[in-house]
Amino acid sequence: MTIAEIQQEIMRMKKEQDVCILAHAYQGQEILEVADYMGDSYGLSVQASKSNCKGVIMCGVRFMAETCKVLSPDKKVWLANPLAGCPMAEQLDLEGLRELKAKYPDYAVVAYINTTSELKTECDVCVTSSSAVQICSRLDNDKILFIPDPNLGRYVAEQMPEKTFAFYNGGCPRHIVVSTKDVEKARKAHPNALLLVHPECRQEVVEQADYVGSTTGIMNYARKSDCREFIIGTENSIVEHLQFDCPDKAFYPLAVPLTCMNMKITTLMDIYNCLKGRGGEEIRLPENVIEGAGRCIRRMVELGE
Ligand code: 13P
Ligand code: SF4
Repeated sequence: MTIAEIQQEIMRMKKEQDVCILAHAYQGQEILEVADYMGDSYGLSVQASKSNCKGVIMCGVRFMAETCKVLSPDKKVWLANPLAGCPMAEQLDLEGLRELKAKYPDYAVVAYINTTSELKTECDVCVTSSSAVQICSRLDNDKILFIPDPNLGRYVAEQMPEKTFAFYNGGCPRHIVVSTKDVEKARKAHPNALLLVHPECRQEVVEQADYVGSTTGIMNYARKSDCREFIIGTENSIVEHLQFDCPDKAFYPLAVPLTCMNMKITTLMDIYNCLKGRGGEEIRLPENVIEGAGRCIRRMVELGE
């Protein structure tokens, strides 16, 4: 079968089965073309809570499918490729979190959405890269334990010096490989380009950016900007999507290793096989996890509005 034939068959089956396909912006172009919705982690969560189809196929990583299941427990939710996990989401377990909480007893625990739903059951609220600043500023507590990404955490903390932050020493193994040397090289090669970066990058990289934002934030900024050239400091699929969207502008990757293998493991055939009933993984979560993580995620949606 050709890519176009597989896409056509996916479109037919999803309609027949009343299944909607949600895709994170780091998915490949051929997947975005069959998706009902494409966005960043926050947009996917909101979409998951609103959608009224019977089933959802998540093309992204496991915590995204879990978030979807927590927000729509009566729906069938599949992770298109069961191997797609986010290494950052697995950096801190419940035991580690409890130790941290004992060290910072009067701190509000703010979990990046890139955490397991089990971990979220013991956190006060979760945030995404696009909602973190707003949500942390709206919390009553002036002391915040931010887990697990200290890069996003520091970026948020800088916007509100009146609050005290504590961090966990985690981080995204992809975004942290980018260095100031990469910035120097890219700026030299493309002196007229703006540098747009994700806040999961190291602090010294973020400090040099012209714009800092989530995957959707970066895409919207580049689409609307009058500038013609951009260096993209997040997963390299965003470079490709922007090239499709804005063929008259030029987009350059900040660093070649900025490719998330975990996101890239999902293929068009995974969606096809999932709809055929011979692939994907149906997400099942214990009642207490749905309830506890639900409180944490719904608080994010409320405070993020
Ligand atoms: P966004 O919230 O920008 O979608 O980021 C999710 C992610 O995993 C980035 O690496
Ligand atoms: Fe996780 Fe980093 Fe991949 Fe995002 S880019 S899914 S944070 S490993």
